[in-house]
Amino acid sequence: VQTIGILTSGGDAPGMNAALRAVARTAWARGIDVKGIYRGYSGLLNDEIFDMKKEFTCDIISRGGTALFTARCEEFKQLEYQEKAAEILRSHNIDGLVVIGGDGSFRGAQKLSAQGINTVALPGTIDLDIACTEYTIGFDTAVNTAMQAIDKIRDSSTSHERCSIIEVMGRNAGYIALWCGVASGAEDILIPERFDGNRPKLENELIESILEKKALGKKHHLIINAEGVGHSYGMAKRIEQATGVETRASILGHMQRGGNPTAKDRVYASYMGALAVDLLCSGATNRVVGYRNGQYIDYDIEDALGMAKDVDQYEFEIAQILGR
Ligand code: F6P
Repeated sequence: VQTIGILTSGGDAPGMNAALRAVARTAWARGIDVKGIYRGYSGLLNDEIFDMKKEFTCDIISRGGTALFTARCEEFKQLEYQEKAAEILRSHNIDGLVVIGGDGSFRGAQKLSAQGINTVALPGTIDLDIACTEYTIGFDTAVNTAMQAIDKIRDSSTSHERCSIIEVMGRNAGYIALWCGVASGAEDILIPERFDGNRPKLENELIESILEKKALGKKHHLIINAEGVGHSYGMAKRIEQATGVETRASILGHMQRGGNPTAKDRVYASYMGALAVDLLCSGATNRVVGYRNGQYIDYDIEDALGMAKDVDQYEFEIAQILGR
């Protein structure tokens, strides 16, 4: 490869800056030029491409967000836009592309690989919902950010002897909720993977759990609710009515996507960024980088997207036991 392009796509995640910095600096060390692409695939289609200079990568490793900005791009699912994007990349002499994003972004990278552009994708999402890897860039920071917020809510919840429902991100995945639940000592953890859609049943179980723990003398009751289960405000109202325990809901929202990345996110993102470049240097394309069993590894994007992932049942059971 002569020139590598980098873009960040989908929801931002803390550590994306560390990743793109590592991509650029490793590429320069290997004698490769680097071009930045603003605003993900939609910026690519608008030709928002610039020569990246060293300064762009300075003073960003400690920052959340992405210096390249990000976007979600629906039209990129269509072949004509994929062809156009490949044309634009070629017009900038970009023969290798690193995409940092979630599995929607991987699909885009796969399509560009089919168009003859060598691509490597990095898993950048706070959700941890990428099957081929045990680690995704941003998850560690997001969990720590949410945990700190939950600790604060817990203080207030205890003082008022309330039940608190705290909604964390994860539309389709409960990893943030599970980790926050265990880390915060929550009494109940609600995740989309274990929710059958029956809300009255779920709420009855919660009501029982609250009354049981109240009888044991617990001063608060924390429920960590994943966004994919949702309805936290309505749930709070109904629980309060049924139990007589004052109940409040807090939705943490996008604060979970921001903030200075943890050491883990900076370091893992850095190694993953470097590996992406070295894979391109070795002639690889259509690959996604992951982390498994203590090692950075890579998979064919097609294979990676075909893998399934579920919350570990043992971990979920223990999380429930610890909250009793
Ligand atoms: O994928 C990351 C994520 O934060 C999810 O947890 C959440 O469901 C979604 O993005 C929110 O997307 P948006 O920022 O576009 O509202």
